[in-house]
Amino acid sequence: MTAKIAPKAKEIPLLGSLISLLKNPLNYLMEISRARSALASRDRVGIVHFTVPNSNLYLVLQPDIVREVLVDKVAEFPKAKQEVAILGRNLGEGLIAVNGAKHKQQRKLSQPAFHAKRIETYAQTIIDYAAEMIQDWKAEDVRDLSQEMYQLTLYIVSKTLLGADKSEMMSSAKSVAVAIKMIQEVTDSDYDNPLLNLFSWIREHPSQRGKQARAVLDETILKLVAKRRSITDSSGQMQDKGDLLSMLLLAKDEDNSHLSDDEVLGMLLNLFIAGHETTSNALTWTWYLLSLHREVEDKFQAEIDTVLGERLPTVADLKQLNYTQMIVKESLRLFPPVWALSAREAIKDTNIGGYFIPKGGQIWIVPYVLHHRPELFDSPEKFDPERFDPARVEEIPRYAYIPFGAGNRICIGNSFAMMEATLILATVARKFRFELMPEQVVVPNPQITMSSKYGMRMCLKARNNSDRTSVK
Ligand code: HEM
Repeated sequence: MTAKIAPKAKEIPLLGSLISLLKNPLNYLMEISRARSALASRDRVGIVHFTVPNSNLYLVLQPDIVREVLVDKVAEFPKAKQEVAILGRNLGEGLIAVNGAKHKQQRKLSQPAFHAKRIETYAQTIIDYAAEMIQDWKAEDVRDLSQEMYQLTLYIVSKTLLGADKSEMMSSAKSVAVAIKMIQEVTDSDYDNPLLNLFSWIREHPSQRGKQARAVLDETILKLVAKRRSITDSSGQMQDKGDLLSMLLLAKDEDNSHLSDDEVLGMLLNLFIAGHETTSNALTWTWYLLSLHREVEDKFQAEIDTVLGERLPTVADLKQLNYTQMIVKESLRLFPPVWALSAREAIKDTNIGGYFIPKGGQIWIVPYVLHHRPELFDSPEKFDPERFDPARVEEIPRYAYIPFGAGNRICIGNSFAMMEATLILATVARKFRFELMPEQVVVPNPQITMSSKYGMRMCLKARNNSDRTSVK
């Protein structure tokens, strides 16, 4: 059977979709998706073709095509060259920014730090740091929860993966946060820069701001590396502290040589950046959704009261915190922090979903768009954690819900993030609930991750005993 030609989005001559994508990529892609949903079902398709100068782009609208690209034909669709170049020059050559054999090797080296048993050992740090965060919080205080969650997850990832205590990180936390924000902005403007698409030499030279931000992060991480290298046992061997940093520093290549500081730096930087902004955004959106839905919040608090009462959670409680985990999953559906996966690029003429894709065509898989499609989720705009009730979850088509991606590049921190978000929600909700400040404007900001553009100022409300409910 010959492949069909994918239908085209409405575009302007020469520039194609460039202006609309620069204005607001999220809105534009949702418009394309909605326009397809409005057609008679026989005219609906799983893929829509759009363009920017010099590139053919394809938006995927059906889960079976997601599977085709990320799982079945993964070798034909590596991360797009341009993505790898931009991510590599800004974030270093770590897991997110490499393809092929390098990716396979780095994934193998990092994986042990994310095994279920290992992740469990991170739980106590998460609980301790969350409990410390709320120690000096008072009822009726107003706090920007996006900043609180950002700082908390930064300390957690620094401690669990790099072995850096909160006290060690405190002095550099501010400059690190500024540097990460700057890298995010630089990367984002790189994506928006049509010249990068045309001239590879521009892609290969980091901007001045990018260099400044990297200098701060590189220094912070290299200090931790040097400190770790200096802790040796009686035979002069570096000690294994059992965290990712030890694993990478002790790891050996196929030719039996250790990874260089530069290689270790790239890998750590990627994990460091991927590992806290995502979770912090997930938590911020979850608090926001809870503040808007009193009935869900009541049920959530009832679960916390029944499982924990006043005590702090432990890793063993996770099994009982079912509704809390359903809330996190539903929040990741409505506001997926990684709102768009990195574009994938066809390495040869091929087809997906029966549609022709030319060599070099870029495939856009956008969790936000898929998660909001009425063909895949009933009342997709409704915040309804019950969708993830084990009795109902089978109703969600496979590969329609992909907040952590899928296939060989599925988020390596997936289970870590779910545990972290659940334990932080539980620790905080024993003491507080939150009310959104009336003047707070909430607008998603679709950069590499999707944050709340103007923060998330909320008023703290104490939970006291009279407020407590319980579920059987
Ligand atoms: C709620 C929190 C998180 C979300 C929503 C999330 C989402 C994602 C997604 C969608 C991808 C795949 C991107 C693609 O295929 O283009 C990914 C990859 C990745 N994530 Fe996460 N992530 C989260 C937390 C974490 C954490 C806690 C870590 C580490 C501590 C982490 C480390 C990574 C890394 C290293 C990759 C690249 C994997 C590869 O390419 O092999 N993430 N994440």
